[in-house]
Parts: sequence; C-alpha cells; structure tokens
Amino acid sequence: MSGKMLVDQLNREFAIGEALQFKAHASGLVLGQVANDFCTAEFFLHGAHVTRFQPVNQDQPVLFMSGSSAFHDQQPIRGGIPICFPWFSSHPTDRDAPSHGLARIQSWNLARAFDEEDGAIVVDLSTRIGDFQLAYRMNFSRELDAQLKVENRGSNEVTFEIALHSYFAISDTEHVKITGLEQASFIDQLENRQYDPSPHPVVFDREIDRIYTNTDATISIHDAAYDRIMEIEKLNSRSTVIWNPWIEKSRRMPDFGDDEFHHMCCVETANIRGNEIKLRPGASHTTGAVHRIR
Ligand code: BG6
Repeated sequence: MSGKMLVDQLNREFAIGEALQFKAHASGLVLGQVANDFCTAEFFLHGAHVTRFQPVNQDQPVLFMSGSSAFHDQQPIRGGIPICFPWFSSHPTDRDAPSHGLARIQSWNLARAFDEEDGAIVVDLSTRIGDFQLAYRMNFSRELDAQLKVENRGSNEVTFEIALHSYFAISDTEHVKITGLEQASFIDQLENRQYDPSPHPVVFDREIDRIYTNTDATISIHDAAYDRIMEIEKLNSRSTVIWNPWIEKSRRMPDFGDDEFHHMCCVETANIRGNEIKLRPGASHTTGAVHRIR
C-alpha cells in the first residue's frame, strides 16, 4: 500500500478529531500526531518510535531528536524513544545482525487508538518478531506512559533483552545531573568493567556508557538551566542504561550532529545483561516507563 493510501486508511479508522491525526513524513514514512489538552507528540509506525513529546505547559520538548537522523525504512531513527529488542547492543553471536535488534527497524501496525475520559490519547501498536508478539501502548497525557508487552507465541522457552532507549532533551550537559542510581552497581561499557554503587549523581563530563543492573529505582534528570526535573518511573525494569556519546563517538556517528551531545542524554529503561527476560510458551512480560516533568 502506498504511504498516502495508508495515511488515508489510518485517518479513516483511527483519527480522533484534532487530537490524533496521521500524516506522511517527507521521507514517506507514516507518523501519528497527537495534540490534546495536555501535550503535543509524534510517533512513527517505523520502529513504533515516539519522536516528540512536549507537555503544553513546557517551553522545551522532553525528548531530544537529532537534526541528522535518518528517516528510512531500513535504518533506526536517532532520538526520541527507539525500542531495542530482542537484543541490546551487538547480537551475541551474529556479527552482521543490526545493533539493538529488529524492533526499531521494522514497521508496526496500528491496532487501536482511543481517547480516555479526561482527553488522554492512547495508541496501541503491534508487530511480530519470530515467536514474539509485541504490543506497545503509548498513553499521551501530562506524562508519556510507554509500555511494551512481549508474549511468547512459540512452543519453546525464549529469552530476550529490551530497552526503551529514551533520548532526553537537556539545556546543556554541564547543567545536568542524574540521581536515582546511587544504590546500583554498573557495568562500564567503555572499560568493560564492573563498578560498585557510587553515592554521587551521574554527571556528563566525558563519554558515558553504563549499564546499571538489578535496579528498579525511579531516575531523575535535574536540569538547572531549564529549571526542571524529568522523572523516569520504571515498570518491571531491572536495568537502566545511561549514555552520552561525547566528542569522538559523536563524530563517528553519521546520523548525529558533532555538537548535539551537549543537548541530550539517554536514560534507558531496560532488562539486559543478567536482567534479560525468559518466557515460557504462552507467557508474557511488560516493560514500561512513565516520562514526566516534576
Ligand atoms: C546505547 C549503548 O544504549 O546506545 C551505546 O549503550 C550505543 O553503546 C548507543 O553506542 C547507540 O547505539 P546505536 O546502535 O543506536 O548507535
């Protein structure tokens, strides 16, 4: 089906007045736009990727989007909330497999959309990857609540990793610190080394790439210059990834501006590296995160 036909069909079946509409992006990819009493937001069917979320009382968006992002059906979008699934980072055995799995580079279907009594917009997207049936629910209100349900439809036990790889918009790395992880040990991916918990907030003064494990704590991003605290409250998530590529890695990434690292940080709601999920046939698991400004 052409992009225009799909957009027309989605608008016929799922549009909710001005509050939810579908459009074709310049790239041809299809996106949904939310504008209700609480927020404006945008999501692509490609990757079930939320690319924008901004409460109406905020001057700045919550999510960072790279100005150099690809918008292509074979590539991930850079920024917003990529879904990493069913593996995180490199595939454990297949060196040719794409980084962070398949979910972020395939098209999802729109299963259902409705408005709640208070005007919140709820959108359900779904897709299939092998034996995994995925259902992603996005609830757009003052907060953005994103929940990914994974069900094993096969006849064998399966294991997966998952990360909601949220990119947050920040004023500047020098004004930001992250709290909530003081009790958690972490793997420093750059040194490939395990560290004991540290009582200090995480700050960005160099490349940071850490996997905190065995923690379900709520994370706060304190941004002194934007005068706001962004909070990430996790559901059924035992790992948290903190990432900022800093100078050299930014230069190596073709779909990311050289200086954009100043204005973003990733706080990822995950189940990876010892916190991966095992599912018996017929079983399901939901990983979620509420993104809010406090
Ligand atoms: C983070 C990883 O989650 O994602 C980093 O911890 C990685 O190691 C980053 O560089 C971006 O990955 P990608 O595949 O989107 O370039």
